Amino acid sequence: MSNSPATQASQVKPGYSLVNDATGEKLELPLVGGSMGPAGIDVGKVYDRFGIFTYDPGFTSTCSCKSAITYIDGDAGVLLYRGYPVDQLAEQSTFIEVAYLILNGELPTKAQLEAFEASIRRHTMINESLKSFFNGFHYDAHPMAMLTAVVGSLSAFYHDTTNNKDPRHREIFAHRMIAKVPTIAAAAYKKYFGQPFMYPQNHLDYCSNLLYMMFAVPAEPYHVHPVAAKALDVLFILHADHEQNASTSTVRLAGSTGCNPYAAIAAGIAALWGPAHGGANEAVLKMLSEIGDVKNVPAFLAKVKDKKSGVRLMGFGHRVYKNFDPRARIIREQCHKVLKHLGVDNDPQLELALKLEEIALKDEYFIERKLYPNVDFYSGIIYKALGIPVNMFTPMFAIARTVGWVAHWIEMSADPAGLKIGRPRQVYTGAPRRDYKPLTAR
Ligand code: CMC
Repeated sequence: MSNSPATQASQVKPGYSLVNDATGEKLELPLVGGSMGPAGIDVGKVYDRFGIFTYDPGFTSTCSCKSAITYIDGDAGVLLYRGYPVDQLAEQSTFIEVAYLILNGELPTKAQLEAFEASIRRHTMINESLKSFFNGFHYDAHPMAMLTAVVGSLSAFYHDTTNNKDPRHREIFAHRMIAKVPTIAAAAYKKYFGQPFMYPQNHLDYCSNLLYMMFAVPAEPYHVHPVAAKALDVLFILHADHEQNASTSTVRLAGSTGCNPYAAIAAGIAALWGPAHGGANEAVLKMLSEIGDVKNVPAFLAKVKDKKSGVRLMGFGHRVYKNFDPRARIIREQCHKVLKHLGVDNDPQLELALKLEEIALKDEYFIERKLYPNVDFYSGIIYKALGIPVNMFTPMFAIARTVGWVAHWIEMSADPAGLKIGRPRQVYTGAPRRDYKPLTAR
């Protein structure tokens, strides 16, 4: 592990304080320690004592909560789910087993895994009347718009499990949400192509079922390619959780009000859609199409480095990773394997992506700023090889991340200290107090 700016929580000695230079008044700031990584300075009393706020837009050094789900060491490029390295899970586990781990904290026994899988399979169908919601959308609606709306609409269907304080209610919500999100995403895909909705097939595993619901048609038999299902499973493991990213923090913030949990997940889906977050996988493919050819890479990178252009190298850079994103490394390796198995190993966009990465990694601009490929740089190339259209890339991310969102919502809702509403403060920069002027006097 790297030497983080603060030493490991357990080794930190108290010794941080805030001093008002004018009066000499001193406030000791207690440390909130964790099990690994930097501790947090508790600034909760600063306003009470000094009448000032702390200011950290974008939360660059502010923790919003304690969490025991996922650990990232951005300098070392480490990602752990419940302590387990993501590369070991991607190599040896399955998405459903990882979902159990993330939700429950421990790897399941055989019986626990079977029971969990059976429960997820049993909840895959959506209410028939929910299907008709799709009729309200124009044929070319973005699938993320439909996913956000229809997941939010689940809050109108399940009135039997809305007690956030009841562990069984929380568990049923979790299983329903994880089971139904692929069905809803596949329905959004079918709407886009004008094809009939395909009901889930519960004899299939999670990812095979998703591929079936997307690509099968009632007119002919469809066999899921096992390589495609396996590739999707690995991608889903890599996307399952990423601690307090923008969409997860959105789920927590919305959930902190005690709102319906499906509505909180819909808020997370909306946040994921942005190109700075989950929407980057779609943006990467669009960028590669725009660049078109390896010979255009230098001119494109010149544009990226010119701040006035507003162009970014999509799929590069990360708030936390200042080293290779470990997920990108795994996906990069997977890319070649999967494309070879599927017989599309001379993909020109993969060649272009590799060249772009090679040139960028040697460029002073990216070296200085510690900008490396992130999870979204290569995932789109695999999705494309699986026949998934570009506008479905972010819904794929959303299906996998649902596990993380649900786990964080449960962790927050089950906190014995109780739900504390998330309510940031602000530095006001508007007009000072002034008196209303009637229209005739303006
Ligand atoms: N291309 C060009 N320059 C960049 C890029 C990029 N992709 N990313 C950061 N920079 C520059 C930025 O202009 C700034 O330069 P300077 O110091 O000269 O002002 C410096 O690097 C620091 O960037 P920042 O915007 O302050 O960093 P951040 O932590 O606020 O942003 C980020 C992180 C992921 C939003 C950003 O790197 C980015 O926009 N990347 C492209 C979009 C992307 O791939 N997003 C997916 C993230 S991973 C998956 C997920 O979270 O969903």
